[in-house]
Amino acid sequence: MVSLTINGHQHQVDAEPDTPLLFVLRDALGLTGTKYGCGIGQCGACTVLLDGQATRSCQVPVESIGAQGVTTIEAIEADPVGARVVAAWVGIEVPQCGYCQSGQVMAATGLLKETPKPSEDEIAAAMTNLCRCGTYNAIAVAVRQAAA
Ligand code: FES
Ligand code: FES
Repeated sequence: MVSLTINGHQHQVDAEPDTPLLFVLRDALGLTGTKYGCGIGQCGACTVLLDGQATRSCQVPVESIGAQGVTTIEAIEADPVGARVVAAWVGIEVPQCGYCQSGQVMAATGLLKETPKPSEDEIAAAMTNLCRCGTYNAIAVAVRQAAA
């Protein structure tokens, strides 16, 4: 059994120690807002916060998490920064198909928690999640609005 703190709640999960956090979230706990894209750390669809830092959950074995708190898209609006990011995303109508967007919101929240007033270069460096619909310009506008 692996003990995890997810969205402020303690969970005991029956999983092999090397199981990626992404699969535990989706398959064991039903938290399907975190998406599977590539499974190799490239796309960012699976991004969650680990102790506030944006992290690609397909690359995180559950045994490595320990006492770190996991935040998923399901609870992001309980975080004041996350709530601002979601409000900007909704106001600007960023999503197209939406598949990548929970990961984008988590990446933006992680950025603004660490760097509340990011420069253009810092936004570009942090927002590396892929979007097949090409919402990159809208994402950049939403991040700037959430930071304002
Ligand atoms: S599914 Fe994790 S980075 Fe693509
Ligand atoms: S909104 Fe469709 S993949 Fe990003």
